[in-house]
Amino acid sequence: MAQGIPEEVMMNAALIKELADVAKDMALLQGVLMRTQETPNSSELVSHAPFTLFPSPVPKAVFVQALAVQTHYNTLMDKISRDTEFLQEALESTIAVDDFTAKLFRIHQQILKEGRSQSIVLGLNRSDFMLDQRDGQTASLKQIEINTIAASFGGLSSRTPDLHRLILKVAGRLEESQRILDNNPAAGLAGGIAKAWELYGSERAVVVFLVEESQRNIFDHRYIENELWKRNIRTIRRRFEEVSKTASLDENKRLFVDGQEVAVVYFRNGYMPQNYTSEQSWDTRLLMERSRAVKCPDIGTHLAGTKKVQQVLARPGVLEKFFPDQPQVVEQIRATFAGLYTLDMGPEGDATVQMALAAPDKFVLKPQREGGGNNIYGSEICQVLEGMKDSSERTAYILMDKIHPTPVHNYLLRRDAPLKVSSCLSELGVFGAYVRQGEDMVMNECVGHLLRTKSAEHSDGGVAAGVAVLDNPLLV
Ligand SMILES: Nc1ncnc2c1ncn2[C@@H]1O[C@H](COP(=O)(O)OP(=O)(O)O)[C@@H](O)[C@H]1O
Ligand SMILES: [Mg+2]
Repeated sequence: MAQGIPEEVMMNAALIKELADVAKDMALLQGVLMRTQETPNSSELVSHAPFTLFPSPVPKAVFVQALAVQTHYNTLMDKISRDTEFLQEALESTIAVDDFTAKLFRIHQQILKEGRSQSIVLGLNRSDFMLDQRDGQTASLKQIEINTIAASFGGLSSRTPDLHRLILKVAGRLEESQRILDNNPAAGLAGGIAKAWELYGSERAVVVFLVEESQRNIFDHRYIENELWKRNIRTIRRRFEEVSKTASLDENKRLFVDGQEVAVVYFRNGYMPQNYTSEQSWDTRLLMERSRAVKCPDIGTHLAGTKKVQQVLARPGVLEKFFPDQPQVVEQIRATFAGLYTLDMGPEGDATVQMALAAPDKFVLKPQREGGGNNIYGSEICQVLEGMKDSSERTAYILMDKIHPTPVHNYLLRRDAPLKVSSCLSELGVFGAYVRQGEDMVMNECVGHLLRTKSAEHSDGGVAAGVAVLDNPLLV
C-alpha cells in the first residue's frame, strides 16, 4: 500500500536544503503569503506563510469520513442557532461567569426580543479534527472543535496543493505528487457568500469583510474577495471602528456603511474579547446584528460554535433531539465526538474535577475562547482546578479527552527559522458552507479541507498563533 514520504528522503540533508530553497520561492510564486509582523497594515513587506516541506500522511478512510460528516455539522449548527431554548439552557452556567459569552448572549436576547429582520442565514464554518491513534489501534477521527466565526485559511489552503505537488516532483516523488488532492475552499466559501448576496437581492449592495486591527493574514481573505470580484460582487474591508463611524440603519433596517448598502457582513473578526476594543465595538456588533444584512455568522450561529455547546452536544440524547428521525446522522456525528465533560456545579461536575485531578495528562481544560493558546494541559490543569474547584468559576470551562495522534517527521518552513526535522502532529479541518432562506436550505456543502501541522512539543496553537503551519494530506 502507498505510504507517506520515506525516511531516506526525509533525512537526506543535501536534498532537504535544495527542496527548502525551492519551496520557499515557490510559495511566493503560488501566493502562499502573509504580511510580515513588523508591518501589520502594509502589503509592501510580505513573506511566505509557514508550511511543511512535505505533505503529511492521512489515512484515506478517516479523510473521507471527515468530509462526509460536514453537511450534517452544517445542519446541526443551523438547527442549534435557531433553538433559543437549547442555547439558553446550554449556556446558562457559562454566561453566569464568563463575561464574553454573556455579552454575546445579551445581543442574542436583544435580537429575539426585537424579532429577526433577515430570514437569510449564511454559515461558513470549519470543523477541526485530530486522529486518535493510541497503542497501534486504527486511527479514529475526533473533532477538536467547530469554528462558526472567522474560520481561516480557506484562502491560502487553496494554493498549497500546487506547492506540495511541485516540491514532490523536485524531490523525484512523482507518484506522491499525483496523490495530492485538489482543494479550493476559497471558491466554495465565496460561493456561499455569493448565494446569500444574490438572495438579498440588490445589485448595488456590497459585502463587508469585518477585519482585525492588524491584518497579517490578509491574503487569506483576498482569495475569497477575489472570487467575489470575479462574480462582480463588490467587497469592502472595514474594522469595527470604521464601521461604527459611518454605519446606520434605515427605516427598513437596511445597513449602510460609508453610504453603501450592505448585503452581507462576513466576520473575520469579533471572535475574541480583545477584538472588542471598546463598548462602541459591542454597539457596532449589535447594530449589524439588528440589521437586514445577512450576517456570517449571525449571533445564534456564533454561540452554536462555543465549546460549552460542543460539550452539551456530547451528552446522551442531545443529538437525537436535533435529528429525531435520522439515527444514521446521529451516529455519524457522534462517532467524531471525543469524551467531553461538564464542570457545572453539582455531583457530575465534581466527578469531572476528581477525574481531571487524578490523571491530568489525559485531558485538556478549555475556556470559552478562540484563536489558540487558551487551553490548559498537564500539571497546569491541577493548578487551575485546585484554585477554583469549589467555585462557580469552573463553569467557564469544559474538560475534554486529550487526543493522541501518531507523530510523523517533517520540516516546518518558517521565515528565518532554522531547517530541522521535527516530530509533528497534524489537525485536519473541513470547511462547510450553507445558506438557508426561511425554511429552505438552498445550499449545504462541504467546500474543502485544511491540514495544519505543528511540532509535537507544542500542545496548543494554530497557524495565526505562530505554532502550526499549512500542510496537505497525502492519503495513505
Ligand atoms: N482534545 C485535544 N487533544 C489534543 N490536542 C488538543 C485538544 N483540543 C485542542 N487541542 C490543541 O489545541 C489547539 C487549540 O484548541 P482548540 O479547541 O481548537 O481552540 P481554539 O479555539 O483556540 O483554536 C488545537 O489546534 C490542538 O492543537
Ligand atoms: Mg482551533
